[in-house]
Amino acid sequence: MSVNLSIDINGLKFKNPVLTASGCFAYGEEASEVFDLSLLGGVVTKSLTYLPREGHPPPKVHETACGMLNAIGLSNVGIDLFLSEKLPFLAKYDTTCVVSIAGSKIDEYARLAERLAEEGDVDALEVNISCPNVDEGGLEFGAYPKPAGKVIVAVKNKFSRPVIAKLSPNVTDIVGIARSVVDSGAESISLINTLVGTAIDIKTRSFNLSNGFGGLSGPAIKPVALAMVYKVANAVDVPVIGLGGITTASDAIEFLLAGARAVQVGTACFFDPLAPVRIIDGISDYLKQNNFKDVNEIIGIVD
Ligand SMILES: Cc1cc2nc3c(=O)[nH]c(=O)nc-3n(C[C@H](O)[C@H](O)[C@H](O)COP(=O)(O)O)c2cc1C
Repeated sequence: MSVNLSIDINGLKFKNPVLTASGCFAYGEEASEVFDLSLLGGVVTKSLTYLPREGHPPPKVHETACGMLNAIGLSNVGIDLFLSEKLPFLAKYDTTCVVSIAGSKIDEYARLAERLAEEGDVDALEVNISCPNVDEGGLEFGAYPKPAGKVIVAVKNKFSRPVIAKLSPNVTDIVGIARSVVDSGAESISLINTLVGTAIDIKTRSFNLSNGFGGLSGPAIKPVALAMVYKVANAVDVPVIGLGGITTASDAIEFLLAGARAVQVGTACFFDPLAPVRIIDGISDYLKQNNFKDVNEIIGIVD
């Protein structure tokens, strides 16, 4: 029996509901040596800023129980190199290309959106208003409904294709922020970014990360992510993309049952580069074993 895995996010088509998460897949070059990127529902690039960024000095990552802390500081190649080298590479693959953007000022998001609007190979933007480990921008916008909405309005003014707002879990009222970005024109919401955390080396009595604080990701955050995805999916009328700790097909299926129309795989790609492919196959097997013909039948049916 064949099953339908394709999904639609407000007009944006994905051949299956599994995407790679921003920052855990760079621009796809390394992963392409391990599997055919055309197998993926979609890719989300590392967040781009207008100019290249070095990010924080090492140590930038630290392993924790069932997870990892990172304080990369949005290191990325900047828009010019992305357009000349990285986008043409990704465009060779038959997968939906979502470009993640970040900025320290609203105007930076708008300028990125304007440049990317000229590129036919960019299917959608994911707007990162949720980076916990940069001094300017990031959470400054994502922590409150009004500034979050303002970023989305500025991006939507320049980019007419779908815009996905990526939300932070480091807030008291995630539903309020979700409603604001939808009211401001976002076609979809992805959640969650990392949770603020830290770790201390008791021998040196200093922080394990050069930045002191970082973002926690991986299996440790899955229950938090799942609860937030359920709440947001039930509060807004745009499709939601769930992520946070997804490592196996059964993790991904939990998110779909909770109401996510698609999922992203992040930290798992570091310790199992084939995780996204295994998850696609596992979702297909689950549907067959449980007599579903279409992945859309299981979205949001938890009770
Ligand atoms: C090393 C690393 C770099 C990341 N960089 C970005 C980024 O540039 N933009 C972004 O929106 N999220 C970034 N994230 C967050 C992930 O996309 C994801 O939201 C988060 O890690 C939770 O998912 P996971 O537990 O599957 O990794 C990064 C995460 C990690 C671990």
